Amino acid sequence: MTLWRGGRLATLAGESGWGLVDDGALLVEDGLLRWVGPAAELPPEALAAHEVIELGGALVTPGLVDCHTHLVYAGNRAHEFELRLQGAGYAEIARAGGGIRSTVAATRAASETELLAGATRRAQALMGEGVTTLEVKSGYGLDAATEARMLRVARRLGELGVDVRTTYLAAHALPPEFDDADAYVDTVCRWLPALHVEGLVDAVDAFCEHIAFSPAQVARVFDAARRLGLPVKLHAEQLSDQGGAAMAASFQALSCDHLEYLGTDGIQAMARAGTVAVLLPGAFYALRETRLPPVAALREAGVPLAIATDHNPGSSPTLSPLLMMNMACVLFGLTPEEALRGMTVNGARALGLADRGRLVAGQRADFCVWDGDHPRELATCFGQNPLKERVRLGASQGEA
Ligand code: NIG
Ligand code: FE
Repeated sequence: MTLWRGGRLATLAGESGWGLVDDGALLVEDGLLRWVGPAAELPPEALAAHEVIELGGALVTPGLVDCHTHLVYAGNRAHEFELRLQGAGYAEIARAGGGIRSTVAATRAASETELLAGATRRAQALMGEGVTTLEVKSGYGLDAATEARMLRVARRLGELGVDVRTTYLAAHALPPEFDDADAYVDTVCRWLPALHVEGLVDAVDAFCEHIAFSPAQVARVFDAARRLGLPVKLHAEQLSDQGGAAMAASFQALSCDHLEYLGTDGIQAMARAGTVAVLLPGAFYALRETRLPPVAALREAGVPLAIATDHNPGSSPTLSPLLMMNMACVLFGLTPEEALRGMTVNGARALGLADRGRLVAGQRADFCVWDGDHPRELATCFGQNPLKERVRLGASQGEA
């Protein structure tokens, strides 16, 4: 048992508030939080701790959960950034064969070793800002072999000391060898069982958009997931309102992500299903979108709000979860507390994980130690990285 003491804890216990504990302590045993509270109230069992770590007044929060990334790919799309700055649209570039398809070509040509090298560097950057749980999607292979290769690489990132959840996103774009989206959707459904048997799939996602797949097509992919008992999530209403969120909610989706064009029906359906709204300010910012996700209505309906980097080479090439927390506040109007909840407890919920995201007894001992006086600083001080230490399953991952 290890005792960490003398920290200012932002526990996020309860449904709102920071859950601040000044001069707080955490008792950690077997990778779990055994007790959390004011040091003055430590239970007698704390005397049995074989190690005592002094936090020296540092700030402690739950470990960050980045619940939406496309971390495994090859190539880069910086030239598309230039094209967009000159006035080209994201959809226009995609229709001209750029966008997702150009990353597909580069990813197909890359070996597992090459993909792992790139993804490792990116995962380490996220971990360097406090990420302890990371979701990684496929979706740049769009053929059976490359989708499997991406998911295997994603799994191997777990060896770096971060918890990885994998998501099958073969319904991301129509690959060049298909001209019939329905035929491709059938194929996507056929690939899934073997990947599932190999243990490569924790959830199933799709891109529901006029430049990708319709709600009816995605529903067929979700049916295939349901037959295997796999949870679903959706890239929904990013560029237009397709009714994807309501369809996903009818499958009890863990999350719907992006949501700039989400309407009232989608919000109500998500609220009823307990689906998390994952907001992705990096993509909104980089694509210079102007339509804001309906944050006030989501809040009012009681839909939990999460935030993620959406790291990908096209629409959101960021590796900074802290910057996303800042952007969620400045661009979308979240409070700094909502931003931290979005990158911790609600991010975990978007992955179907109830065992992390808060500093309360019984949860995994995944936490971050930061320089700073108050947790609101994490979302305030953009471009800074105050991480001192990242702790996963009770084990310190070294000085940041
Ligand atoms: O989440 N919207 C679809 N998929 C990604 C972008 C993928 C890409 O442009 O390569 C996203 O923004
Ligand atoms: Fe995405």
